[in-house]
Amino acid sequence: MYRTRTCGELRLQDVGREVVLAGWVQKARKMGGMTFVDVRDRYGISQVVFNQEVNAVLCEEASKLGREFVVRISGKVAERSSKNAHIPTGEIEIIASSLDVLNASATPPFTIEDDTDGGDDLRMKYRYLDLRRNPVRQNLELRHKMTLEVRRYLDSLNFLEVETPVLISSTPEGARDFLVPSRMNPGQFYALPQSPQTFKQLLMVSGFDRYFQIVKCFRDEDLRADRQPEFTQIDCEMSFVDQEDVLTTFEGMTKHLFKAIRGIDIEIPFKRMTWHDAMKYYGSDKPDLRFGMEFVELMDVLKGHGFSVFDDAAYVGGICVEGAASYTRKQLDALTDFVKRPQVGAKGMVYARVEADGTVKSSVDKFYTQEVLQDMKAAFDAKPGDLILILSGDQIMKTRKQLCELRLEVASQLGLRDKNKFACLWVVDFPLFEWSEEDNRFYAMHHPFTSPKAEDIPLLSTDPGAVRANAYDMVINGVEVGGGSIRIHNSELQHKMFELLGFTPEQAQAQFGFLMNAFKYGAPPHGGLAYGLDRWVSLFTGLDSIRDCIAFPKNNSGRDVMIDAPSNIDLKQLEELSIRVEVKE
Ligand code: AMO
Repeated sequence: MYRTRTCGELRLQDVGREVVLAGWVQKARKMGGMTFVDVRDRYGISQVVFNQEVNAVLCEEASKLGREFVVRISGKVAERSSKNAHIPTGEIEIIASSLDVLNASATPPFTIEDDTDGGDDLRMKYRYLDLRRNPVRQNLELRHKMTLEVRRYLDSLNFLEVETPVLISSTPEGARDFLVPSRMNPGQFYALPQSPQTFKQLLMVSGFDRYFQIVKCFRDEDLRADRQPEFTQIDCEMSFVDQEDVLTTFEGMTKHLFKAIRGIDIEIPFKRMTWHDAMKYYGSDKPDLRFGMEFVELMDVLKGHGFSVFDDAAYVGGICVEGAASYTRKQLDALTDFVKRPQVGAKGMVYARVEADGTVKSSVDKFYTQEVLQDMKAAFDAKPGDLILILSGDQIMKTRKQLCELRLEVASQLGLRDKNKFACLWVVDFPLFEWSEEDNRFYAMHHPFTSPKAEDIPLLSTDPGAVRANAYDMVINGVEVGGGSIRIHNSELQHKMFELLGFTPEQAQAQFGFLMNAFKYGAPPHGGLAYGLDRWVSLFTGLDSIRDCIAFPKNNSGRDVMIDAPSNIDLKQLEELSIRVEVKE
């Protein structure tokens, strides 16, 4: 028998028991006539003691154990004389009577400890060792628990988990597809699903009524901390529902997950905000509502006083930072540098302090009378001790996004983005379309299967840009954890949508004929949403990146440095696939 107990479970009540443990050597150290070996497995760590006086050979052998050797140890549980309050097994130790080295280990390239000395690249190259570390393992344990609870909850509501294919044709979710060549159909390619969107809609036509799937999705897009080329969705769809039904169902699931995973009671219903207001007051379609600092527009107050930067701007707006008038000149200069960074792109920042006596002192005092500055103070409802930060620009949305970056930066500096505090929100009423200046055409803001609001349907022919969608995103702490919509279930409207998106009838038929045909055979009204599981796990674990919520993630260049993928394909394989590769410089 390799083991009778795990390395994390022995306690004082086990004292006197004979046990066999198996695991990895965390460290072995000789002290006087004793060798202490910490043995680790997935469940914890136990101290094993070898006594020279009892068995000198064994004690010597134990002292030579290297880090990460795999061992089996038999012995008796004893109470420790010097206890370690930091670990759950810290009150006991095992007095060893035998030691088997099951496998030796090369010296690991970094220390397998909570705070490792390994950099990101090294950890990814040896990810199987990195996964031995507690913090990474705990993330995967939490992820497992999440999926278990999701399945339990959705099953209790009659949702059926159905698998959909991975080798499919393109699903438009706004990213590029990953393509897979077909050997049996030379010159033709499958696309990996960006989401199972069309399949889940077909399942509704099939009468499945409530579907879910915990499913890998693939998107070839630029990577960021919250994006991976392959990631996991909790994908859901329901029939005979309107937007309210979907929001209520998934608020319920979210509440359940917060309680089951984090032991937190969150309030439902969630706050709701229209996309329009989210952009106006926070400059983002995923506002972080753990703190205030809503934008106040100042065009009426500050334009027309001779300060050309504001006079010429399409947008002038700011935030009021409570109690931050004590920001030093140096701190304000640093904030100015922050907004001027190319990633933010503002030209500069104006600031104003509300003094103890209520007067306002600004960095542009020479252009404004105290009276105007008092009007500005009133617009923010600012109090003595507050700091007002203002940006302006010639494009409204662009400037709002810059102000959003500033708001988040200031909140981070002030410690307002507390990872143990959660602010949940539905952003609703997204525009149906997004206009691309570059391509001179509309794109679907969510995806082409999203239905317009019934009252906005007439606008489809006259002012498509003004049409609102039955689309919604769930946002928690400024992270878009999920999104979805009520779908079009009428083939004529779906045709119209494709037309507005620039598809010719032939193109639409070729790409989505199967769906529009299906809609002719009794498609029920339906809608749903998909959560990003990785993002949600990272929110619950308090991580800034989703990478450590994934067992084997890709790096920022989309590479798996451990298995060295993607890699070159040998000529024979390419020939079989009827592919010739020409790499452009
Ligand atoms: P959407 O494209 O909004 O909707 O995706 C749903 C959720 O998936 C997560 N997500 C990602 N997570 C990690 N890496 C990525 N590259 C990535 N891309 C998206 C986000 C997002 O909210 N078919 C629709 C859903 C629907 O309409 O039902 C869809 O895929 O958390």
